[in-house]
Amino acid sequence: MALSVTLQINGHRVEAAVPANTLLVDFIREDLGLTGTHQGCDTAQCGACTVLVDGAASKSCNLLVAQVNGSAITTIEGLATEGGALHPMQQAFGRHHALQCGYCTSGMVMRGVAMAAEGVPAEAEAVRCALTGNLCRCTGYRGIVDAVCEGLQRMREVPAA
Ligand code: FES
Ligand code: FES
Repeated sequence: MALSVTLQINGHRVEAAVPANTLLVDFIREDLGLTGTHQGCDTAQCGACTVLVDGAASKSCNLLVAQVNGSAITTIEGLATEGGALHPMQQAFGRHHALQCGYCTSGMVMRGVAMAAEGVPAEAEAVRCALTGNLCRCTGYRGIVDAVCEGLQRMREVPAA
């Protein structure tokens, strides 16, 4: 059975009819073509599929589109400005070389962005704790933790418009 849903995706209204069992990650990647959101495990463990749902970090492999009907979804593609300027969290990942293969990176960045609203301090221990649930098989995490700390600091210095 198809369900009619209406969502805001990266600030744009999207209306669609989807089968009731459609996962949010499949809708984002396959229906909308926003392939910056990755799929690593499909069992809600790796965090590669993390997006923001009404500002909260959420694993899109663990949600049905029907569950988020009416919500505002932000994917990695929605972080940069219209002019292409990268989000402070993205810039921090670049500065700290916080990626190797990049498979986990969009999920890490989205998780980092959500930490600002959660009030996570820009301190390594707090960030490590908050990153539980986002796995990286390459980097050893040090660069990621440093990048998230810097991104949080920058976000607090220059609040989003
Ligand atoms: S693909 Fe969603 S948590 Fe791994
Ligand atoms: S950079 Fe390869 S999984 Fe994190």
